Amino acid sequence: MTEFPYTYTTAELVSGTVKVIGKTFPRETLGEDTVVIRPDYIGICRADIKEIIGSRDIPTDRGPLFGHEFVGSVAFAGIQSGFRKGDLVTFNPNITPVRTTGFAEYVFVHGSSEQLDQAVVRVPEAGILDSIWMPEPFACIVHATKKLLELAKLRSLDGKRVGIIGAGCSGIMFAMYAKHLGASVIVFNRGESRLNFARDQKLLTEEEICTLVGVECHRDAFDVVIVVPTIVTSELLQNAANIATSEGILHIYGGTRAGDRFPKTQVDIDTIRRHEQLELVEHQGKRLRITGAYGCFKEDYEESFRLHAKHSDSFSLEKLVSTEIELNEFPRFIMEVAAGTKDYPGKVVIKTNPTEPRATALNQQP
Ligand SMILES: NC(=O)c1ccc[n+]([C@@H]2O[C@H](COP(=O)([O-])OP(=O)(O)OC[C@H]3O[C@@H](n4cnc5c(N)ncnc54)[C@H](OP(=O)(O)O)[C@@H]3O)[C@@H](O)[C@H]2O)c1
Repeated sequence: MTEFPYTYTTAELVSGTVKVIGKTFPRETLGEDTVVIRPDYIGICRADIKEIIGSRDIPTDRGPLFGHEFVGSVAFAGIQSGFRKGDLVTFNPNITPVRTTGFAEYVFVHGSSEQLDQAVVRVPEAGILDSIWMPEPFACIVHATKKLLELAKLRSLDGKRVGIIGAGCSGIMFAMYAKHLGASVIVFNRGESRLNFARDQKLLTEEEICTLVGVECHRDAFDVVIVVPTIVTSELLQNAANIATSEGILHIYGGTRAGDRFPKTQVDIDTIRRHEQLELVEHQGKRLRITGAYGCFKEDYEESFRLHAKHSDSFSLEKLVSTEIELNEFPRFIMEVAAGTKDYPGKVVIKTNPTEPRATALNQQP
């Protein structure tokens, strides 16, 4: 194990503050049930920011998400792990809490061979490091769309009108997938900057975007409304219900917290989302179905890679990457976002071993 350094760089989140520190490389923990991953790229997710400010309920079975989106190679594989040094992999944070943060030069994952098989996912796309996109958030969208079809007993979204509230990374990926499945979409967003980003990157057309202020012009217009913002407020749920058709579906994906209810009812939208359930509600004389989705599985990653490889025009996921930073810039960067003094549309990624600066999606624009 002489190939490993004495110390390595990792981020640390303590009491709402992020620091990058040097830690002793824990050689003594490298057992037969260990996989160590050296990330090349790490994605920053809204859930990371929520954990900094303490606005995310952390499930005990999978632990904190802080630093869960990454692509890299296996630096050490225990003999029971089923992996080999050099395997190009990504990570599913929904399997085991026994792992270190992905905001680091090395990530340590421990588990049974069955858990490791689910948590560490091989990347079949060799070129991903030349044109980076984050598999985990897309796998969640693939899973959530499959769950929507299953719960609503729909065979497809072909011909359906889909309204999406929230033009963040997740909302745009839902739009990509819904269009791929034959739906027409309109994505609503509170602020202008994410809509501008989606338009400029040609991720959505002019007809497919609308500010949230314009939502009232779309009453009773959508067969399916997907609710994706960071916080699913009562007002946003009212908006979603207003624009759904009678017998329409509200699919809850964005941030809910324990105790959140659908307005004027006891319908528990946090439970619907986390346990992927379906419930009926009445809203202004309309009968609506509320469904939800949470997390993803290894097969959702496999489907993500298949969709990206076979339908690269429909899933230009790399165009979502707006900004690239280095690990030493990360604490200041993320603390500014957490404080609300900076906001970046699209996906921000950290490149861990920078060689020469890559043209980012933003600076490729004319
Ligand atoms: N169910 C699951 O499995 C799952 C998986 C991953 C993520 N998520 C959830 O999805 C959420 C969104 O993720 P993302 O990657 O799309 O984040 P993102 O790229 O940071 O986008 C956040 C979106 O939320 C909107 N927003 C925030 N606060 C709002 C408010 N008070 N009212 C209206 N809109 C508001 C933002 O609008 P502006 O542009 O106006 O700020 C933006 O559209 C996450 O917070 C997380 O809770 C769920």
